[in-house]
Amino acid sequence: MSSRTVIRGGLVITASDEIHADVLIEDARIAALAAPGSQSWSADRTIDATGRYVIPGGVDAHTHMELPFGGTHASDTFETGTRAAAWGGTTTIVDFAVQSVGHTLREGLDAWHAKAEGNCAVDYAFHMIVSDVNEETLKEMDLLIEEGVTSFKQFMAYPGVFYSDDGQILRAMQRAAGNGGLIMMHAENGIAIDVLVEQALARGETDPRHHGEVRKALLEAEATHRAIRLAQVAGAPLYVVHVSAAEAVAELARARDEGLNVFGETCPQYLFLSTDNLAEPGFEGAKYVCSTPLRPREHQARLWRGLRTNDLQVVSTDHCPFCFTGQKELGRGDFSKIPNGLPGVENRMDLLHQAVVDGHISRRRWIEIACAAPARMFGLYPKKGTITPGADADIVIYDPHAEQVMSAATHHMNVDYSAYEGKRVTGRVETVLSRGEPVIDQREYTGRAGHGVFTPRSTCQYLN
Ligand code: URP
Ligand code: ZN
Ligand code: ZN
Ligand code: ZN
Repeated sequence: MSSRTVIRGGLVITASDEIHADVLIEDARIAALAAPGSQSWSADRTIDATGRYVIPGGVDAHTHMELPFGGTHASDTFETGTRAAAWGGTTTIVDFAVQSVGHTLREGLDAWHAKAEGNCAVDYAFHMIVSDVNEETLKEMDLLIEEGVTSFKQFMAYPGVFYSDDGQILRAMQRAAGNGGLIMMHAENGIAIDVLVEQALARGETDPRHHGEVRKALLEAEATHRAIRLAQVAGAPLYVVHVSAAEAVAELARARDEGLNVFGETCPQYLFLSTDNLAEPGFEGAKYVCSTPLRPREHQARLWRGLRTNDLQVVSTDHCPFCFTGQKELGRGDFSKIPNGLPGVENRMDLLHQAVVDGHISRRRWIEIACAAPARMFGLYPKKGTITPGADADIVIYDPHAEQVMSAATHHMNVDYSAYEGKRVTGRVETVLSRGEPVIDQREYTGRAGHGVFTPRSTCQYLN
């Protein structure tokens, strides 16, 4: 017996259209759209979306649930993190499985499957962090692509941990050029940064704000440029993660003007926060330590412009929460020991809606950068990221007029602070369906761990 849900009276917004329409869902999929009131579909459940937006569930293509980092691990598990994602209107996450040095990709991927399986409230997929490029690893990349893990992150930062040198990067890119994989790059010159870290600490500059000073915008731009040229030499596409510096956006824009398959992602923290937060008194700045770092406020205009002109295609969160108490505090007296990362998986859709309210982007661009583009970039479209017959019924009923104040007191992420504490935003998630099942129902959690399943991906759907 199939189950039918009808969503009536809402404004359906996708990356390409805004139409008043009723939506019919049969079991886990969208079955039809029709003019409001034109169809007398029978249904087990009818959702009245009058005055609401009906939007695709968000696709957050950059999360780190339970990531081991700096002697601790990110405080959200797949269970708490995907529940918080659902509360924030995100119905798919793409998390990063980690290959540790001396281990295979297979070992890393199996470990991440074990962490996630049976625990997720919404669907999930994986990228693979490649920390150890060798013949075996390169062959394994082909196998992972067949299993739906089609993108690989490398690091030009963090020497001794995740770092790859230019030769290792070139080799992985050459493999990706042949097998259709997408290389994702953490573009910061980590070797130079480590020298500046050492010099800053020797001068007694130990506060969180120095994290932002040593991880210079120029060293992000330089690494971005180098990654672009290595990818060009290899004939491979490139996706630069967590872009924060205006100078790095300029490198991406130039490469795209040259016709290269180069893509960029930024994150809400770079759009809404700045070095002012890193400089908050006491040790408060530690809450805002992430890499790439927050930049002076002047960089934000270039990021917004890049999002409008499509020089940046995706906004993901890089959700990597560490509690202030006991985790961020590991770096008291030495900023380099503060675990890197910010919470945000629950906040992204709302912050980007606020960007619509503020006039930075249009409503359709909101859906594009938060849903459709990440789905296309990582081979999930149109199953995810849009509202069309045949797509998974991952749908958010969004109240564009509700006011809310972001706070750790009310969020659902397993972290003891909010990066946006006290921020007022207009717009709020009301109901969330994941494959047709309500996960959030009129602001009550009705989901369950284990509803979310691993979702294999095809290769990037954006290549020239
Ligand atoms: O500070 C960050 N971004 N932490 C997560 C790891 C990474 O580099 O994405
Ligand atoms: Zn633990
Ligand atoms: Zn990174
Ligand atoms: Zn990350």
